[in-house]
Amino acid sequence: MKLLAIETSCDETAAAVIESDGQSVSVRSSAVSSQAALHAAWGGVVPNLAAREHVKNIIPIVESALREASATREDIDCIAVTQGPGLIPALLVGVSAAKTLALAWKKPLLGVNHLEGHIYANLFTPGAELRFPLLALIVSGGHTQLILMHDHFEYELLGETDDDAAGEAFDKVAKMLGLPYPGGPEIGKRADDYRTSSEREPAKRFPRPMLDADNYRFSFSGLKTAVLYSLQKETTETLADPEFVALIAHEFQEAVVDTLVGKTERALQEHQPKTLVIAGGVSANARLRERMELMVAGYSDCQFLMPPFQYSLDNAAMIGAAGILRYARMSNTDRHALRSNAGALEPSAHFPLAHA
Ligand code: KG4
Ligand code: ZN
Repeated sequence: MKLLAIETSCDETAAAVIESDGQSVSVRSSAVSSQAALHAAWGGVVPNLAAREHVKNIIPIVESALREASATREDIDCIAVTQGPGLIPALLVGVSAAKTLALAWKKPLLGVNHLEGHIYANLFTPGAELRFPLLALIVSGGHTQLILMHDHFEYELLGETDDDAAGEAFDKVAKMLGLPYPGGPEIGKRADDYRTSSEREPAKRFPRPMLDADNYRFSFSGLKTAVLYSLQKETTETLADPEFVALIAHEFQEAVVDTLVGKTERALQEHQPKTLVIAGGVSANARLRERMELMVAGYSDCQFLMPPFQYSLDNAAMIGAAGILRYARMSNTDRHALRSNAGALEPSAHFPLAHA
């Protein structure tokens, strides 16, 4: 079974061809065109600009995914598209393209939740098998959530951020430090340099918000403000010093990682999942990967999965993985409905995972 997937929820235009036997999934092709350099000039993603770029890129990207997979329309059994959450002007481009193809090619069309895609990106880790219950830490530019899955496609939200998402905090602190958008990789790089070059761990200068609270809530806005206040005390000269920037990057990253790992461990103890996965753009962070791996090593009944680096960030292969497994589980009647309802699919900015 083969599926064509399309993703345009933020600033990556992406298409992929995925194949499955109903159990495992494999990537036949994955094409991604990033607009990060364009949005860097504005310090963040500008929704209408993103939409305009998606319009330019969507056809070449779909063509390139099909070509790379040596697939034609006859080979494709189903089309999947990111329905939300995301930026509406951006989502509309992918959804319109997918609807057009589905109607012209007479194929079923499946709307996939972007966060579900991030979770299923873990299937691209060689030998990966999702065993349930499964605990997922979703950390992206728009979300920070701990989710418990009792089975495939069954989600229970344990807790989420009250304010900023983890990735958003990385991006905002990077901006304060004069680093370009997207800030996560920039902070990660400087913090890694700091750790390899420095012998002593500095005293903790920033708070670990809600770390000791007996719940699964997160908050990153206070941490961001603490960084701002601490920078306001410094001279222009200090702020321009790369060593100082690396120190702040490191201390901020430790505060975020301590909180993410601490809350995840609390959920691990309470729910004793068989699998822990990390998902979303921030799951590309080397320090988070390393610290999570160390923490889970203390729980021998729990396997730890993280997506291969290229599938941590937004891509269409992950949307295809979730889509093809959903499609494989459907009855013929449901598949037929996907074909006849293709024209009615609409994007949703806050598409909830639980209803996906
Ligand atoms: O999942 P994603 O690509 O897009 C959304 O769904 O939001 O996540 C993007 C976020 C951005 O905030 C970016 O700064 C962050 O992921 N990110 C990182 C790293 N790579 C990307 N954050 C920390 N360390 C990284 N290496
Ligand atoms: Zn994402």
